[in-house]
Amino acid sequence: MCGIIGYTGNDNSVPKLIEGLKALEYRGYDSAGVAVFSDGGITVVKAKGRISNVESKIKSEYDSLFSLCGIGHTRWATHGEPSDINSHPHGTQNLRLVHNGIIENYIQLKKELIEAGYTFESETDTEIASKLIDLNYISTGDPFLAIKLSLEKLQGSYALGILFKDFPGKIFATRKDSPLIVAVSENGNYIASDIPAVLKYTNKYYQLEQGEIAVIEKDKVTVYDIGHNIVEKKLLVADWDIDAAEKGGYDHFMIKEINEEPAAIVKTIRPRIENGLPCLGLPELSDDKLRSFKRINIVACGTAMHAGLIGRTAIERLARIPVNVDIASEFRYKNPILDKDDLVIIISQSGETADTLAALRLSKELGAYTLAIVNVAGSSIAREADSTLYTWAGPEIAVASTKAYTVQICVMYLLAIKLALCNNKITEENAKESLRVLLEQAPEAAEMALKLNDECRRISDKYKSAHDLFFIGRGIDYDIALEASLKLKEISYIHSEAYAAGELKHGTISLITDGTPVIAICTEDALYDKMISNIKEVKARGAKVVIICKKGAVGAEEVADDVFYVPELPGIYMPIPTMTVLQLIAYHTSVLLGCDVDKPRNLAKSVTVE
Ligand code: G6P
Repeated sequence: MCGIIGYTGNDNSVPKLIEGLKALEYRGYDSAGVAVFSDGGITVVKAKGRISNVESKIKSEYDSLFSLCGIGHTRWATHGEPSDINSHPHGTQNLRLVHNGIIENYIQLKKELIEAGYTFESETDTEIASKLIDLNYISTGDPFLAIKLSLEKLQGSYALGILFKDFPGKIFATRKDSPLIVAVSENGNYIASDIPAVLKYTNKYYQLEQGEIAVIEKDKVTVYDIGHNIVEKKLLVADWDIDAAEKGGYDHFMIKEINEEPAAIVKTIRPRIENGLPCLGLPELSDDKLRSFKRINIVACGTAMHAGLIGRTAIERLARIPVNVDIASEFRYKNPILDKDDLVIIISQSGETADTLAALRLSKELGAYTLAIVNVAGSSIAREADSTLYTWAGPEIAVASTKAYTVQICVMYLLAIKLALCNNKITEENAKESLRVLLEQAPEAAEMALKLNDECRRISDKYKSAHDLFFIGRGIDYDIALEASLKLKEISYIHSEAYAAGELKHGTISLITDGTPVIAICTEDALYDKMISNIKEVKARGAKVVIICKKGAVGAEEVADDVFYVPELPGIYMPIPTMTVLQLIAYHTSVLLGCDVDKPRNLAKSVTVE
């Protein structure tokens, strides 16, 4: 979802902006543009569609565009369709601006600006913000004051990068509820929505806090609070290197990231085991504190929410504490019942998802203790939660989340083991054994699952022409089915639903006709026979059934059209290798259908608007 890049320094900014935009592609976008200081003014080039369209325009219209300072933007349409005109940057003769977020009071502001004599060419809320700043700039002659006065009126979320014509070489930046970093290097300084956009040049950055206004010059970054006092910022260093954000010989980021799962599990879990026992490394979250929680709520969006479902099963089974799982966009408006006895676990790969962040803030307001499970260090959710457990998966670039999910569920297992131990539901011996499974057997099983790649491609090839495809499961297999179905539909565009197998008779079975593919996930030993009965019901109505199960599953080959054996782990850990296999099936289906695997249509990696 919208990406921002800006550079001021000793080099030509144009290729850097284009490269930065390409590195932000994964966030999802449908148009792009740049604005750079040139010929005593600001030149803007923008286009609907891919970044290459902007590159072509630059080539054809400007021959060679050279500038030491500029800003760029990838737009994911919210207000107004994707078009050249709606693309950013927006602005006036005085200034050009890029924006990530949503200005909520844009209708009122537009009215006021029209009364002040402004006209508008685009349908965007961003153009309104740019003209509001212009109005304040004309009356004050001071960029800082113009931004400050405008922020007082702007409602909603924003990260802004602004060039003022009269201040060549300077980028002004500010943010509220949308991410923005200021990155620094010997050869110039940057603004960016996230670290991968600048990783090729630097891994050192400042995190802008809400309402701070930064002035970025080629050899200097000054950050002010809203009262114009200089803020001393802590320089952060990202431990991601550029290899982590490049394909490294793989055809797509998604397949690279699936292949990184075994290593990511070890990286995330190993540092959290001490003397064989779980160690969260969070002194503020003592054993007594952990024991005090009467209920647990897990709140997240998309794949992260599905990781929460596995977490619920693990915590309820091991620690016997009741757990609710909510979609963040529902949770925040349902007037949730929370108090100090509640632990709210917030799961987010990016740490910036707007609804998830809002759910975190609401939970804190209501007095609950918040624990975030986040992949991006220094992200808003990581900073605002009472405690944060990082997943150390490295950058995840493909829109469809894979390795982040795997490590999220591993952290949930770790937490479940810790809670169970604190509440005397398991012995130290049990805890040690479970952690051994997580640290040693789980990565091995994921590795073995990766070796089933050709077999996965065969299944994908067989079912790729389906219009509808159903995933069914019971217990933890239903949790897996939900994520498997999401993975398939988001990147292959095949309609898919996940159903609790026992619930089929209450709806989905009416959709089963001759040849409808049904993928039945059957790793729960205790529920296996029930699954076979449900499979027979769909078979009797013409379904083509693929059973995903453990070796030795009795009778699977007799009832199914295809049987797929996944590497075996004890009970609740089966989602690790099973999801690896199902991610591979989704991946190959997408490739075989010629879809844009890493950047599926309409989807964004980082959903920074609600
Ligand atoms: C988007 C992404 C998903 C992700 C979800 C939640 O929908 O496409 O891959 O699971 O957002 O994102 P988060 O960063 O909060 O985990």
